[in-house]
Amino acid sequence: NSESNHEKYRPLFHYSPPSGWLNDPNGLVYYEGEYHLFYQYYPHKNEWGPMHWGHAVSKDLVNWDHLPIAIAPDHNGMIFSGSAVVDWNDTSGFFGGNAGLVAVFTHSDTYPNTIYEKGAYVIDGKTITERPRQRQSLAYSTDKGRTWTMYEGNPVLVDVELIDFRDPKVFWNADTNRWVLVLAVDDHVRIYTSPNLKEWTFASEFGAKMGSHAGVWECPDLFELPVDGECENKKWVLIVSIGDNSEFPEGSRTQYFIGQFDGVTFTSDLEQEEILWMDYGRDNYAGVSWSDVREEDGRRILIGWMSNWKYANQTPTTGWRSAMTIPRSLSLTQTSEGIRLISEPVEELTGLRGEPATNLSGTVLSGDRLLAGLSGNAYEIEVEVEWKDVKEFGLKVCQSDREETVIGFEAESSFLYIDRTRSGESSFHEMFPCKHGAEVQTDGKQLKLRIFVDQCSVEVFANDGRVVITDLIFPDSSSNGVSLYSRGGDVLLNSFVYYPLKSI
Ligand code: FRU
Repeated sequence: NSESNHEKYRPLFHYSPPSGWLNDPNGLVYYEGEYHLFYQYYPHKNEWGPMHWGHAVSKDLVNWDHLPIAIAPDHNGMIFSGSAVVDWNDTSGFFGGNAGLVAVFTHSDTYPNTIYEKGAYVIDGKTITERPRQRQSLAYSTDKGRTWTMYEGNPVLVDVELIDFRDPKVFWNADTNRWVLVLAVDDHVRIYTSPNLKEWTFASEFGAKMGSHAGVWECPDLFELPVDGECENKKWVLIVSIGDNSEFPEGSRTQYFIGQFDGVTFTSDLEQEEILWMDYGRDNYAGVSWSDVREEDGRRILIGWMSNWKYANQTPTTGWRSAMTIPRSLSLTQTSEGIRLISEPVEELTGLRGEPATNLSGTVLSGDRLLAGLSGNAYEIEVEVEWKDVKEFGLKVCQSDREETVIGFEAESSFLYIDRTRSGESSFHEMFPCKHGAEVQTDGKQLKLRIFVDQCSVEVFANDGRVVITDLIFPDSSSNGVSLYSRGGDVLLNSFVYYPLKSI
C-alpha cells in the first residue's frame, strides 16, 4: 500500500524529512541546550525545487524533532545553503542588547544548472535575459529559532559579476574581534570580515590553483583544531565540497585543506596538487560543522548530506528523499603522511545500542560464515581483526540469495572498500552500482571497523575514523543477513559485537 511504500528505505536513526526533498545541512548551531539542524528543503515534491530551510532540533544529536519550515523564499529569491551563529553580544543590533540567533544564507534566483552561453543564461533549456544572481542575506530569531525575521537590509553581500557565489559559513574570531565569512565562489573560496554581520569587507581568497577542481566549489567551512589533542599545536581546516562532473564517476564529494588562518588569509600546508578527501564513499556531501558548541564540550561536530548530485534526484524513495549522515566528531592526527582529518561517530550514538546480539570475540574465521542468529536492517557492528597471512576478508551485510553489500579488505594492498554492485535496487543510475574505497594504514596486521547499517545506508569507520566510507544502498528489506568471510587464509576476530540500534 502507499503508506508502506512511503516508508520504504526510511532510515531509523538518521535524520530524514517527514516528506519532500532534503539536501545540504544548513545553519548548524547549538543554543540553549539544543542542536539546530536546518536543511535545504523542498516540501512540495521529492525532487530539488525552490529551496526553503527545513528545521529540526535535538538535545543529543541523535533524537530529532521536526519543526515547521524556518525560512521560505521571498522577493529576493530562494533560500540556498548557509550557516547560523549566536550573536552573543548583539553586534547586529537585532536583539536589544541580548543574545539571539542570526542565519546567514544565500538568496538565489539561479538554479544550480544555470549555464552562461553567448551572453545569455540558460536554465533548464530556457533562455533568460536578466542576469541571475546569488547574494548573501540575513534572518534573525529571538525565540530560539522557532520564528525568523528577514533583515530588511537584505542582501548584505552582493557581487554582480558572479553566478556561483554562495553558501556563507560564518564564525566569530575572538583574536580580531570580527565575524569571518567564508564563501564558495566558482573555483575558489573568498573570505570576508565584519564587525556586525551586516557590513562585509573582502579579506582574501584561496584555492583557484589548489586541490581538486573536478566540480564547482560549494559549502565551505573553516575551523581550528588541535593536532592529537595538543592545544599548543593547532591547525586550521578548510572544508570544501565539490560538485558533480559527468566526466568523473565519483560525483560530488568533499575535500579538505590543512593550514593557517591569521584572521584575514588562509594558507595551506599542502602541496598544490595534493588532494585530501574527507570520506571515500559516494554519499557524504556538503557537510559542515556546528557553531557555538559549548566550550567545555570542545567538539567540532559535522553532519553531511547522505547523497550525491550524480543521482540524488533519482534514488528510489517515494514521497520523501534523502537523509543526513550520522553526526561525526572531527579531530586532527599526525600520520607518517602528514596531518590528517579524523571523523568518528559522536559518542551519543552509543545510546541507541540495544543488547549486543552476538559476541564472536576470539573466533578464528576461515572461509564463509553466515551469522545465522542475526538479521536486521538497522544495527552497528564493532569488529577488530588480526591476521598473519590472508588475501582478503570482510563482511557482507543486507544479504540474501539475490543481494549483498560487501565491506571488504584486500590485505596486500591494505585496501578497504564497499562493493554495492549487488546491493539491491540500483538501476536508477548507471554509476550507482560500483566498488570503491581507500588504503588504510594498519598498525601491524590489525584492522578495527565500526559499521552502521540503517535501511538504505552503510557507514564504515576504519581504525578510529582514519578512513571513512559512507554509501547509500537500496536492498529489499528481506535482505537482512550478515556474514563474514576470509579468502586465502584465516583471520582472528579479536572482537566482534553486533548491536541492534533503536529507532529515533
Ligand atoms: C550544494 C548546493 C549548494 C547550494 C544548494 C542548493 O549541494 O548546490 O551550493 O546552496 O546546494 O540547494
